[in-house]
Amino acid sequence: MIVAIDGPSGTGKSSTSKAVAAKLGLSYLDTGAQYRAITWWMISNGIDVDDAEAVADAAGKPVIVSGTDPARPTITVDGVDASGPIRTEEVTSRVSAVSAVPEVRALITELQRTIARSAEGGIVVEGRDIGTTVLPDADLKIFLTASPEARAARRSGELKGADVAATRQALIKRDAADSSRKTSPLAKAGDAVEVDTTELTLDQVIECVVTLVEEKRTGT
Ligand code: DC
Repeated sequence: MIVAIDGPSGTGKSSTSKAVAAKLGLSYLDTGAQYRAITWWMISNGIDVDDAEAVADAAGKPVIVSGTDPARPTITVDGVDASGPIRTEEVTSRVSAVSAVPEVRALITELQRTIARSAEGGIVVEGRDIGTTVLPDADLKIFLTASPEARAARRSGELKGADVAATRQALIKRDAADSSRKTSPLAKAGDAVEVDTTELTLDQVIECVVTLVEEKRTGT
């Protein structure tokens, strides 16, 4: 059972994907964390992230390893725990530039496919292009959406009281970059089920996705 969950940030994608995987005994992969990890490595190694050629040349150097236990997802870069550094404001503001570079996407996509193929018992993979590009044969594809206001409010809550208006602006900017890039942009697959989470609590979204997976499993 391979479940692809795509959508912009602030839709509850990570919390939902982790909880659904834990409830159903599936593995979990956060593909955004992988793009963040490569971005962190580029910044730490003095590579100009706006220089697509330099980013492409260095893309194969870092070794990124993702742990897929939904109760304790991990990410390392060259053996170093990157789970803290990949969430900084600096990485968040630069990850769209790095993830738009085709060489980066080709490498990370291959890594994601290898992880998904080797996950025994199934996996929930969350990202932006999982249903369209990484795993187009996924058993179930879900596209989460929410209004920009709801997404900004959730994100600023996660960022412990960050300014909602500024968060909304940053989100809109990142969505625009992620949706307009040439290589596998953020997009809903034609056969994805869209779930608008604006008016739903996290528990309701989890329940909705669990039901969709169970229906798929039992063929109802
Ligand atoms: O889900 P997130 O906010 O941690 O993702 C960080 C960035 O990574 C996001 O702005 C776009 C990029 N990304 C991507 O291009 N493709 C994916 N499958 C997942 C994330």
